[in-house]
Amino acid sequence: YPLQNLNTFGIAAKAATFSRFRSTEELEALLEQKAAQAHHSPLLVLGGGSNLLLTSDVKSWVLKNDVPGIAKLHEDDEAVYVQAGAGENWHGFVQHCITQGWGGLENLSLIPGNVGASPMQNIGAYGVEIKDCFWDLEAYHLEEKAIHTFTASDCAFGYRESVFKHQLKGQYVILNVTYRLQKHPVVNTSYGAIRQELEKMGVHEPGIKEVSQAVIRIRQSKLPDPAVIGNAGSFFKNPAVDKAVFTDLQERFPEIVGYPLPHDQVKLAAGWLIESCGWKGFRRGDAGCHAQQALVLVNYGHATGKEIYTLSQEILDSVQFRFGVVLEREVNII
Ligand code: EPU
Repeated sequence: YPLQNLNTFGIAAKAATFSRFRSTEELEALLEQKAAQAHHSPLLVLGGGSNLLLTSDVKSWVLKNDVPGIAKLHEDDEAVYVQAGAGENWHGFVQHCITQGWGGLENLSLIPGNVGASPMQNIGAYGVEIKDCFWDLEAYHLEEKAIHTFTASDCAFGYRESVFKHQLKGQYVILNVTYRLQKHPVVNTSYGAIRQELEKMGVHEPGIKEVSQAVIRIRQSKLPDPAVIGNAGSFFKNPAVDKAVFTDLQERFPEIVGYPLPHDQVKLAAGWLIESCGWKGFRRGDAGCHAQQALVLVNYGHATGKEIYTLSQEILDSVQFRFGVVLEREVNII
């Protein structure tokens, strides 16, 4: 089964076995079918395919999560509690909330992928992370064949992290996510680029719609549209280092970009590290490093997953050699 249209990198890999499910019942039926066929290959649950790199054909049974639906479950004076199926397109869901006047997710406009992946790695951009308005989620436990509810603390959210990437990896299928959104939104324009963009737009008292538009304009100017050039957003995480390490680096590289974190740590802009190693705009065959944002690796058409992976390794090695900092891949390597 061809996966090229199901991963935003546009890698032409194939799956040995492929199925879609739209509900818990359909998921259970597929799992029974798998057991009956004594199919021992592992599962790969696919959402929007926007955070993975396929480095070869996939031997796992690929299950595409297409669970649909957006529903308001509850409201009080302050907030609405809105549940979205894991298979809903993330940006579509965010736009729906904005149209309804529900605030909280507008800074996360235009992030590729589906709702089910949003808690997986606590997606974040422009000063907001989903943990800020996450309420709970329902996930199917593959061993117990039961649905469990997770609150924010159960999810152990961190920067691009959750329990689903670690202790519980591979054990659950996220079915739906509920967000608690503000009925009287207070916008977050803490990120400098948003304020600059709003100024350019001539907006002085932004609401959630204007903030969303500003974010969309920033993203479109920096990040390649996966429908045009294959990519999975930031390929690496921004690494955290001790303040002492940062001060040291600053002496050698006065231009280095870092943001203070709690506990005497500093988050380095990986894009800057990669750019200063000379990779920005680099291209070999169809694998490249984006010319507007060095943190994003791209497929100009026919790159293989291995070619992208090799490039990522060379980038990693050169950043380590120059700065002594080891980058961590953010994208899941399959
Ligand atoms: N920079 C460079 N060269 C580059 C890119 C960045 O020097 O080629 C420096 C600049 O100083 C810039 C700073 O890095 O001011 C930060 O860049 P940017 O605002 O583009 O953000 P980022 O740290 O590179 C992170 C997220 C993005 C998110 C933006 C905005 C990670 C791994 N990435 O990128 O998330 O959209 O902040 O909040 O944390 C994603 O995860 O796929 C993603 C796109």
